[in-house]
Amino acid sequence: MTKVLILGANGQLARNTTRVFLKDTEAHLTLYLRRASRLANPDPKRVTVVEGDVLDAAILQTAMRGQDVVYANLAGDMARQSSVIVDAMHAAGVKRLIFISSMGIYREVPGETYRSVLDPYRESAALIEQSDLDYTILRPGWFTRGPEGPCQITQKGEPFRGHDIALDSLSALIARIATTPGLYVRASIGVSDG
Ligand SMILES: NC(=O)c1ccc[n+]([C@@H]2O[C@H](COP(=O)([O-])OP(=O)(O)OC[C@H]3O[C@@H](n4cnc5c(N)ncnc54)[C@H](OP(=O)(O)O)[C@@H]3O)[C@@H](O)[C@H]2O)c1
Repeated sequence: MTKVLILGANGQLARNTTRVFLKDTEAHLTLYLRRASRLANPDPKRVTVVEGDVLDAAILQTAMRGQDVVYANLAGDMARQSSVIVDAMHAAGVKRLIFISSMGIYREVPGETYRSVLDPYRESAALIEQSDLDYTILRPGWFTRGPEGPCQITQKGEPFRGHDIALDSLSALIARIATTPGLYVRASIGVSDG
């Protein structure tokens, strides 16, 4: 049974992936979020809810103890967030990180020009890639409510293929990566609908 800590657990993708984890895996989840009263515990036998800001190193480090996988589903000051996460993972002895980023951080999307809005995504990815963690950086396309289907994966260095990704397909991929040892370790993958 895998223990997964979900950071930014009230995010759109995180809420969808929590549902998929509970439906398709036996994972135990710790949902880490600001203002925890916003979220009802969906399964108290398998889910613990922790209130905290990712930038609060002490609360974060405590939440990380005993976890197998950290799944970061964040937005905002991602460079600072990723720095605190990497340090807390080192301190807690957790190696496996799944980090949600965005397509376009390496200028890998054909026809797309540089967008400064992605700078926090670029900086956080660079920091994680420089770490010794067993990371998987996911670079999804635009989220849709489309039906679940196969994912089209591109590796770092390859042009991004496709444009959109159904939330259900992305959540299924995240759950599979979290519960499959070695899958896409130390990789930064583009993800779109297949
Ligand atoms: N939507 C798309 O089509 C698309 C495409 C590619 C990539 N992405 C990216 O994928 C990521 C996940 O998407 P999403 O839709 O789930 O995003 P979201 O709904 O905006 O969720 C992000 C979460 O991060 C949390 N957060 C931010 N700073 C935090 C902090 N310091 N401590 C704790 N939590 C913090 C927010 O918490 P609060 O609720 O407390 O503010 C929010 O719940 C985002 O970075 C998004 O930009 C999105």
